[in-house]
Amino acid sequence: MKTEHNKAAEQSTKHIILIGFMGAGKTTVSRKIARWQHLCCIDIDRYIENQHAMRISKMFIKYGEKYFRDQETAFLRTLANRDRSVISTGGGIVLSDLNRQLLKESGTIVYLQVTANDVAARIKNKRSRPLLTNEDQTRDLLDKRRALYEQIADITINTSDVKAALVAQTIITTLQDRGEL
Ligand code: S3P
Repeated sequence: MKTEHNKAAEQSTKHIILIGFMGAGKTTVSRKIARWQHLCCIDIDRYIENQHAMRISKMFIKYGEKYFRDQETAFLRTLANRDRSVISTGGGIVLSDLNRQLLKESGTIVYLQVTANDVAARIKNKRSRPLLTNEDQTRDLLDKRRALYEQIADITINTSDVKAALVAQTIITTLQDRGEL
């Protein structure tokens, strides 16, 4: 017999969208959720890189940040026509009002919180992140963006000292409690 809980989960077509600063673990965690829940997984950064056959760091140099941000918006506009997926976003996707609106319309927003110290410890290869050059700058950027992440988050998960697998499992349990899985 189907419970109300199961029915709600079956009917839910909302994407599961992970937001948060660079190094929050969005890519790793989204892959785990997708694998365990048999959902598609889309990493927006990788999607844009594949479409352009170019690394993001190169895109920033060649076309500028605005061009990259426009690609993020263009991708978000396609979400309504995609199968239910776990979506990993780039850390700066929340900067534009339009992106925040599109994200809100597209699914359940899961915000992975990190501290500047976590970011410094987790991101070894800073060259692949054009906006991350030193720790002071990381702190500034994080301070500027925190309110934007919080503004659209449906679920907030603290990831400090928590392994990616446990973060993923906590998200799954929370979504199940909400009747969305
Ligand atoms: C960015 C974060 C990166 C990538 C780009 C810009 C940002 O993604 O989208 O380098 O502005 O925070 P990750 O958050 O996956 O590192």
